[in-house]
Amino acid sequence: MTDTATPAVIHRADYAPPAFLIDSVTLEFDLVPARTIVKNSMRMRRNPDAARAARLELMGEQLELVSVAVNGVPHAAARAHEHGLTLDDVPDTFELTIVSACAPAENTTLSGLYVSSDNFFTQCEAEGFRRITYFLDRPDVMTTYTVTLRADKAAYPVLLSNGNLIEEGDLADGRHFAKWEDPFKKPSYLFALVAGRLVALEERIKSVSGKEKLLQVWVEPHDLDKTRHAMESLIHSIRWDEERFGLELDLDRFMIVAVSDFNMGAMENKGLNIFNTKYVLANPETATDTDFANIEAVVGHEYFHNWTGNRVTCRDWFQLSLKEGLTVFRDQEFSADMAGGATDETARAVKRIEDVRVLRQMQFAEDSGPMAHPVRPESYVEINNFYTMTVYEKGAEVVRMYQTLFGRDGFRRGMDLYFKRHDGQAVACDDFRLALADANGRDLAQFERWYSQAGTPRVTVETAYDADAQRYTVTLKQGYGDAAPAARATQKGPLLIPFAIGLIGRDGADLPLRLEGESAASGTTRVLDFTETEQTFTFVDVREAPLPSLLRNFSAPVVVEYDYTADELAFLLAHDSDPFNRWEAGQRLATRELLALAARAAENAPLQLDDSVVTAFARVLTDETLSPAFRELALMLPSEAYLAEQMAESNPAAVHRARQFVRKRLAAALREAWLAIYDRHRTPGAYAPTPEAAGHRGLKNLALAYLAELDDPADAVKLATAQYAEANNMTDRAAALSALLAASTSKETPAAESALADFYRRFEKEPLVIDKWFALQATQRGSAARPIIDVVRKLMTHPAFNIKNPNRARSLIFSFCSANPAQFHAEDGSGYAFWAEQVIALDALNPQVAARLARALELWRRYTPVLREKMRAALEQVASQVKSRDVREIVEKALV
Ligand code: TRP
Ligand code: ZN
Repeated sequence: MTDTATPAVIHRADYAPPAFLIDSVTLEFDLVPARTIVKNSMRMRRNPDAARAARLELMGEQLELVSVAVNGVPHAAARAHEHGLTLDDVPDTFELTIVSACAPAENTTLSGLYVSSDNFFTQCEAEGFRRITYFLDRPDVMTTYTVTLRADKAAYPVLLSNGNLIEEGDLADGRHFAKWEDPFKKPSYLFALVAGRLVALEERIKSVSGKEKLLQVWVEPHDLDKTRHAMESLIHSIRWDEERFGLELDLDRFMIVAVSDFNMGAMENKGLNIFNTKYVLANPETATDTDFANIEAVVGHEYFHNWTGNRVTCRDWFQLSLKEGLTVFRDQEFSADMAGGATDETARAVKRIEDVRVLRQMQFAEDSGPMAHPVRPESYVEINNFYTMTVYEKGAEVVRMYQTLFGRDGFRRGMDLYFKRHDGQAVACDDFRLALADANGRDLAQFERWYSQAGTPRVTVETAYDADAQRYTVTLKQGYGDAAPAARATQKGPLLIPFAIGLIGRDGADLPLRLEGESAASGTTRVLDFTETEQTFTFVDVREAPLPSLLRNFSAPVVVEYDYTADELAFLLAHDSDPFNRWEAGQRLATRELLALAARAAENAPLQLDDSVVTAFARVLTDETLSPAFRELALMLPSEAYLAEQMAESNPAAVHRARQFVRKRLAAALREAWLAIYDRHRTPGAYAPTPEAAGHRGLKNLALAYLAELDDPADAVKLATAQYAEANNMTDRAAALSALLAASTSKETPAAESALADFYRRFEKEPLVIDKWFALQATQRGSAARPIIDVVRKLMTHPAFNIKNPNRARSLIFSFCSANPAQFHAEDGSGYAFWAEQVIALDALNPQVAARLARALELWRRYTPVLREKMRAALEQVASQVKSRDVREIVEKALV
């Protein structure tokens, strides 16, 4: 590597330890929006465990170098270049002092130090710290930080950084300062500072060992009335990690700060988490039930990183899933425990179903395209492009499989050993796997393939019953089908798949399970150790021909292929004791029917719905023994994106026609039932975002959405108009508005337009609600007479639209390009032209956000020929104009 060139592709195999270490760092900031000066003093020494380097290479980007001194003496031989700073001839141990400047006010990338609403914020993961100062900006260089912030006191009364506040005071010229010290060693990606006019909701609690802790949620003054739920979520998170994993908060003070310009959800900076406002601010008037649940999950996620990510961090960015997969698993379990405790299986299943829906819709799609990569990638061009569904969600499934294999107690033993071995270290995914293996006395060498093989495994199942011998055999075969080329290259051999199975008798009850070789029957769900390419398992003493319940609770992230008849699926939907598989049976039934209809729609053939689907759905709808939240999920059809992905050639228009046809049929055939459900599940009285109340609202609003599909949607318009006007919460108000918009596609209604206008006026000062206003319009159904691209283009000129704010860009541009497939994939290519324009515009402002949008076309090869060619043209246009490494990697991989 020369001074100025970073290699185009970074490979995992090229990892080498750092040539230098940093024993401590002292940072001084003079915060001024146009030009902030940073003085950085580092105690450095050569790494005894690395080869001796000729030079010290520090990373740095978009910095203006002011001065460099080694042991207090100006260093003449320091060379600043586009990617950093090179120092020849440094001693073995030395103090390095660097002064540099950066321009936060001009920083539209939202990486490094930037200004948002006149306040200062930082975002350093993954490689943002090098935009603040020259540094060894890699996660295996851990050190202790002492940080002094200086700024104008009137404009920036609050000055925050990681750890403990050790000193503060006034300076000349109306300025003041604060000095912070973080006692824990950390990598640079966990550094943070915040400065500005902010206020905090505070709580003091005692942690499990009796120590007093100060908790703060910092926001802009007008948002203080929306912080209670985030604070409660934080307290619940702290308690949960103490109880479930024996992990205590290690700082005296823990802060959350909300910022409205943010690239992702939130960031786990040590002791100073910085959050997108979307995942902090909530009150009943502005936030939906989903928002409340997401806030709890994200607050939990970032808090849980304090141990899984911060105390034990990643050796290099290829190990990202070490912290992200594990922390997503932890936040999923937290949410499940909060909803259903350890034992309410139906409430837990609701959370599980929601998570699996996301995985199958988004991660399976990623796995089937040009960005397919293993949970632990082998190479990258831009690490920001690898904060993916695979690293996060599939990574969480991989962690979940340990718990499925070893049980909760065995998993806990593994976690305990992991912290015992690695607290304070930067480690690799292998270290986690070895801790789990050693704590449970099992060789997990084969399990490593879950980290190194890309693509979605397919398990095909064949069964046979021998009535005379009372034996039932289950033969499992695993492979990857016709995987994407990017995935195929990584596939080496069979996986260790924990395959949970149950057998159901004629009366709908589970049969006792005894595998051949076992002395007695035990339990009704068995986790099979499926390790070979093909393997047969034999159950004995099976007194009648059973119906298999396969992959219970989705015990592994795979596709299961088994030829159920429609009757069998209806039976499972009615009887399976595993709530996940009850839901799954309904989805299989609906998916099969919808795909058959989509194939007919693609040929413009007439559509007809099998009565068995209506009957099965009707039974769920009216089964009052099932929780409303579960029924809502069971009655929700698979998404258009998921269905299109299942077709040999994705045809969004045909999928949309088929799905709408089924929705209308279900609406009409069950009209009375929907009306009754609407009535029965109202939630009068004060609003509470509990899972139970949210379940009632969800089912009621699903009924409203179905009623809005009727050719004559008069009932829906009447109910929605009243609901909109009377709602005391955002869930009901937004659902009513959405129903009015849907109803107006079959029959123009002035109610939709006036509700839309009212909604804007009412919430003009609430940016997160205005985001919903944009998103609802961008995702609405269109017609030949009213294509939604026209609506979107018009909204782009609305005074409230601002492409520099990621939440706003996502609410309009991403909603249209990723969440309205039938309109986005219009045959005239108008959606793709719009996409290309917006990717290019964002590329110049915020490459991370631009690259996310760029991914909307990555599955282009899988579409019908007409669409495919237009998508290729749009991709080529972007490829010819792109500036950032982020977007370039996406479009170049797509076009290969
Ligand atoms: N580590 C963060 C999380 O998972 C996410 C994150 C990664 C992030 N890179 C970021 C957030 C860039 C904002 C900007 O919680
Ligand atoms: Zn995370």
